[in-house]
Amino acid sequence: MKVLSVSSEVFPLIKTGGLADVAGALPIALKRFGVETKTLMPGYPAVMKVIRDPVVRLRFDDLLGEPATVLEVHHEGLDILVLDAPGYYDRPGGPYLDQTGKDYPDNWRRFAALSLAGAEIAAGLMPGWRPDIVHTHDWQAAMTSVYMRYYPTPEVPSVLTVHNIAFQGQFGAEILPGLRLPPHAYSTESIEYYNNIGFLKGGLKTAHAVTTVSPSYAQEILEAEFGMGLEGVIASRIDSLHGIVNGIDADIWNPATDPVVHTHYTATSLKNRAENRASIADFFGLHHDSAPILCIISRLTWQKGMDLIAASADEIVEMGAKLAILGSGDAALEGSLLAAAARHPGRIGVSIGYNEPMSHLMQAGCDAIVIPSRFEPCGLTQLYGLRYGCIPIVARTGGLNDTVIDANHAALAAKVATGIQFSPVTKSGLLHAIRRALHLYTDQKVWTQLQKQGMKSDVSWEKSAERYAALYSSLAPKGK
Ligand code: ADP
Ligand code: GLC
Repeated sequence: MKVLSVSSEVFPLIKTGGLADVAGALPIALKRFGVETKTLMPGYPAVMKVIRDPVVRLRFDDLLGEPATVLEVHHEGLDILVLDAPGYYDRPGGPYLDQTGKDYPDNWRRFAALSLAGAEIAAGLMPGWRPDIVHTHDWQAAMTSVYMRYYPTPEVPSVLTVHNIAFQGQFGAEILPGLRLPPHAYSTESIEYYNNIGFLKGGLKTAHAVTTVSPSYAQEILEAEFGMGLEGVIASRIDSLHGIVNGIDADIWNPATDPVVHTHYTATSLKNRAENRASIADFFGLHHDSAPILCIISRLTWQKGMDLIAASADEIVEMGAKLAILGSGDAALEGSLLAAAARHPGRIGVSIGYNEPMSHLMQAGCDAIVIPSRFEPCGLTQLYGLRYGCIPIVARTGGLNDTVIDANHAALAAKVATGIQFSPVTKSGLLHAIRRALHLYTDQKVWTQLQKQGMKSDVSWEKSAERYAALYSSLAPKGK
């Protein structure tokens, strides 16, 4: 089976969050199920800089107003189709924001162009290769199935995966002519959304199947609290809605071989973590004492509950824990976390920025990872925590709920607990969870057992890749 995946981020070429990890790992996991994936992505400067020996596969003289070329490259086990369109992507900022942190005003055109290129490839425009299935990710790629509906193309089934329904790609109706869709595309059964245009909304209406990244989140987005206005649209697709939990690339994330981890270990040599822990203490300026190090590796946003961390920092230190925080995001939250670090030297360390190697070392050295998200479609850092023996302390929501087993009495006795869950997601809920964790930490036998159980849990892509493969097969024309 041949799949065209369309994604605005793919690890290791470009990453701002979990989408990149998934778009980079799923094609590799799918290989053993006979699925061959080519991934279409934008040619951002970071991508153009690292790709080697590109082969030109397709040229557009005018892709919604700019010339563009599709280049095929093989990169670390992935087959990538880079959409090289300097007018859209050759910019000094990030994938979505300019250097001052503002959305690019032409984001609609940049990602409609990506989607249109995907639809053209689905239609067989690229010589020698046509997909059996198109798999799009998030609003940036969601217009692919919209273009596929209105362009006279052979029917190719499409799957849209929603990684976070909070990001919807909504724009004013005045962009309609620029999208070059027929006027009747502006309908409630397609891209029209409260007199505006919704890219994710259009994808939700036009894709043959819709998936999201955990079973719990698939339920949650049917409700107004989590659906963010799209709950009705999701409900209209309930028969084609699937919750498939993310896995992780267990080769990249392996504490026994991870090249950035100072001292390697397995579930039977957890003592080796001590040296990594000491490196973390050095990096974050924390005291070298027996108090546990709780870490945070996150976008610093309201979704991720980072305001609760800022508000609870003094109490967390008083309870006897240390905090190592790596992240970037809202300026106000960065400021309050830095202020907390200034109040508690040696107890709280904050590093603002994006640091992939440090994110690995923290999982390999810290005692627990705190994830107080208000909503979390799947979450990957708790999965990395499980794999690295860094106990996840998580809000009971979305994928966090589906992947961490709370250390209640029954689960501890049955030896199946892997972390701590808490609800409601409030300051007192969070502090209660941390108190529970510190209590468990006082009994190192229990703590080690939790670590080992976490390290045993299956966080690989194996089962979920099989589910995607089964979904593709159920949609593909018979005989594929
Ligand atoms: P989201 O995609 O919503 O941000 P996920 O938990 O799915 O949340 O994925 C976040 C990914 O980004 C993980 O791989 C995590 O390790 C990584 N990450 C987040 N913040 C940082 C940071 N400051 N430095 C390095 N990696 C980070
Ligand atoms: C989104 C979600 C996150 C999920 C990731 C990958 O960024 O916020 O929960 O893990 O996508 O699917």
